[in-house]
Amino acid sequence: MPLVRHYLQFKDFTRAEYEHLFARTRWIKERFKRYERYWPLEDRTLAMIFEKQSTRTRLSFEAGMHQLGGAAIFLSTRDSQLGRGEPVEDAAQVISRMCDIVMIRTFEQEVIERFARHSRVPVINGLTNEYHPCQILADIYTYIEQRGAIAGRTVAWIGDSNNVCNTWLQAAEVFDFNVHVSTPPGYEVEPERAGLYGTDHYEEFADPMQAARGADLVTTDVWTSMGFEAENEARRRAFEDWQVDADMMKAAGPDALFMHCLPAHRGEEVAAAVIDGPQSVVWDEAENRLHAQKALLEFLLLGKVEP
Ligand code: CP
Ligand code: NVA
Repeated sequence: MPLVRHYLQFKDFTRAEYEHLFARTRWIKERFKRYERYWPLEDRTLAMIFEKQSTRTRLSFEAGMHQLGGAAIFLSTRDSQLGRGEPVEDAAQVISRMCDIVMIRTFEQEVIERFARHSRVPVINGLTNEYHPCQILADIYTYIEQRGAIAGRTVAWIGDSNNVCNTWLQAAEVFDFNVHVSTPPGYEVEPERAGLYGTDHYEEFADPMQAARGADLVTTDVWTSMGFEAENEARRRAFEDWQVDADMMKAAGPDALFMHCLPAHRGEEVAAAVIDGPQSVVWDEAENRLHAQKALLEFLLLGKVEP
């Protein structure tokens, strides 16, 4: 079997590879804005397997594949044999003989890793309980687009140490920036689950205001991620004081950006005045999922394309 590259977690790529991806993202985005056709993936097919709900991930991959000249097929657990217990290994064998690339949104990271081990084609993580690499790919591109290099900067993560947080922490190791994390007691970072090499690139703060102070970017996510709905009430109580509000953005400073992977709950993890305010770049962040993932699809299928 030929060597196949997958994108299962953020640290799967080097900083140099990300720099290539960001250059391609910029190029692809500019062409797209000028309505210039770019069809390098003509006759290629992406299979998208969703075991959890999605708006942005499905739309950006499906539209992105179409815009690159290829096709995308949507499969959900509900209406495929995966929902009836077909082994992941068997599904990987079959799907990867019919399609050129696969994107999966599922529960445990272990499931996508098993799929990738049995796949003949590249596999992309479209979110697991542990990681969301495509999100942070777009987020870092967005930061660079707005403010320049992220190395040496400080990102404040306020809230749950979830899949998106873990991915920010991996990104900090790749790009050499710092993360100030503030979670309620009992929801702290688990370095092993986050897949970190060490603890040098993040610091934990009991007080979210302290975490935000002087940060270049403040970011958060829902208090209850998909798959954890049974904990909703307990989480609502535990996270009450972890809302990113106007005072927190003031502590960060006037040049700080605000990001949220979306969907957001105004009045819970973020105040409406922040997400709808002048420091928020959430719509650019969401749009950049499209452009960055097109660069990712190009890279995984065609290697390093030079303009
Ligand atoms: N941010 C994100 O992944 O959104 P969806 O759940 O809508 O795909
Ligand atoms: N942490 C959230 C992200 C949604 C895009 C979840 O896993 O539900």
